[in-house]
Amino acid sequence: MVQIAPSVLGADFGRLADEIKSADQAGIRMYHLDIMDGHFVPNISFGPGIVKTINQLTHGFLDVHLMLSEPEKYFEPFVKAGADSITFHLEVHPDPVPYAEQLRQLRVQTGISINPDMPVERVLPFLKHFDLLLVMSVFPGFGGQKFIESALGAIRAARSYVDSHNLKTQIQVDGGVDGSNAAEVVAAGADILVMGTGFFGRDDRAQLVQQVSQLKSARERSI
Ligand code: DX5
Ligand code: ZN
Repeated sequence: MVQIAPSVLGADFGRLADEIKSADQAGIRMYHLDIMDGHFVPNISFGPGIVKTINQLTHGFLDVHLMLSEPEKYFEPFVKAGADSITFHLEVHPDPVPYAEQLRQLRVQTGISINPDMPVERVLPFLKHFDLLLVMSVFPGFGGQKFIESALGAIRAARSYVDSHNLKTQIQVDGGVDGSNAAEVVAAGADILVMGTGFFGRDDRAQLVQQVSQLKSARERSI
């Protein structure tokens, strides 16, 4: 089943508890938490304290996306705060396998991400070590940017690699995804759609969750 992972960065932080409650009620089971250090990306977001707060507000799966130059320094604090998966960038660790191993020892799911200008071929050989591949469809740092179409090619290539190697790695897409391009992104091979403004920017959230849950993932299409 295809699912939406709302990026909490797109929520109204003044009403965080209500925003999470409304997402839970709309049927959301996974939250995407964008962590920025002002170094790997030109913006700063929030840290383990807010992740801990979100963990107290929902039973949903917490998918933590570390846009950090030294992500491994923060693996443990985020796990302690309630992270269920941790994703870091291939750009900072071109040999990511030892870091996947560290995450496994901390008993969380593992994710690896690539920016839009990273050739997708570079990440494919590592996918067997990861539960999640996060394909960025914007240059990370800010919510509300326009979807970069060339990400569709990366998603297709990743899908075909995952399927032909019988891997369980799920493909996530992050940046500029909303109700208008969800079907196209899923058709390219995505399993999980990260949506910031595309989710929190609208009132009819349950309807969006319903719309996306009816899309068939690549795996369901091949059965
Ligand atoms: C990019 C972040 C994204 C982003 C998504 O900097 O990793 O998760 O906030 O937001 P939208 O959906 O608004 O592009
Ligand atoms: Zn993200």
